[in-house]
Amino acid sequence: MPQREDAWQLLTDWVESPSLRKHMLCVEAAMRAYALKYQGDEDLWGITGLLHDLDYEKYPNPDPIMKTGHPFEAVKVLREQGYPEEMVEAVLGHATYSGVSRETQMAKCLFAVDELCGFLVAIAYMRPDKLSGITPETVTKYLKKKKFAEKVSREEIARGTMELGISEEEHFKTVISALQNISDKIGF
Ligand SMILES: [Fe+2]
Repeated sequence: MPQREDAWQLLTDWVESPSLRKHMLCVEAAMRAYALKYQGDEDLWGITGLLHDLDYEKYPNPDPIMKTGHPFEAVKVLREQGYPEEMVEAVLGHATYSGVSRETQMAKCLFAVDELCGFLVAIAYMRPDKLSGITPETVTKYLKKKKFAEKVSREEIARGTMELGISEEEHFKTVISALQNISDKIGF
């Protein structure tokens, strides 16, 4: 399997948007935290997070019937480059419309952290202290504000947490601290 440097190179070839790059770094950090928690392969889980939206900028409009667009384009590239099928399945599984179910713990984690990372960044934008000092209660409070970051699917966050089989508090805590650990890198 390609190394992290190769994955980063691939990401920079495909993604120009600084905010999308940051999102992918956030998801990588959250996946590394969960790999430690569930004894997964840290690089495999991390790189899966790092590359999960590889094609999102170039192919924002998926066609689930034709299997084109995000994330179908990304998985073609991942397969060509020799990434393992477990990663491919997790990347497909994070898009609910792909029809691929999330069987592995890694796939469940990817789905569970993706929307939550976006939501945490939206909260951090609002706060002078950015990510610092955010607690699970902060997240719950903002989740109830329907107008806040309305594009973030509350339903997917709830579903992802349920699939992990842990409490929202535990899940939010894990992802918050993973993002706080890379705050220098992402500027939050
Ligand atoms: Fe994502």
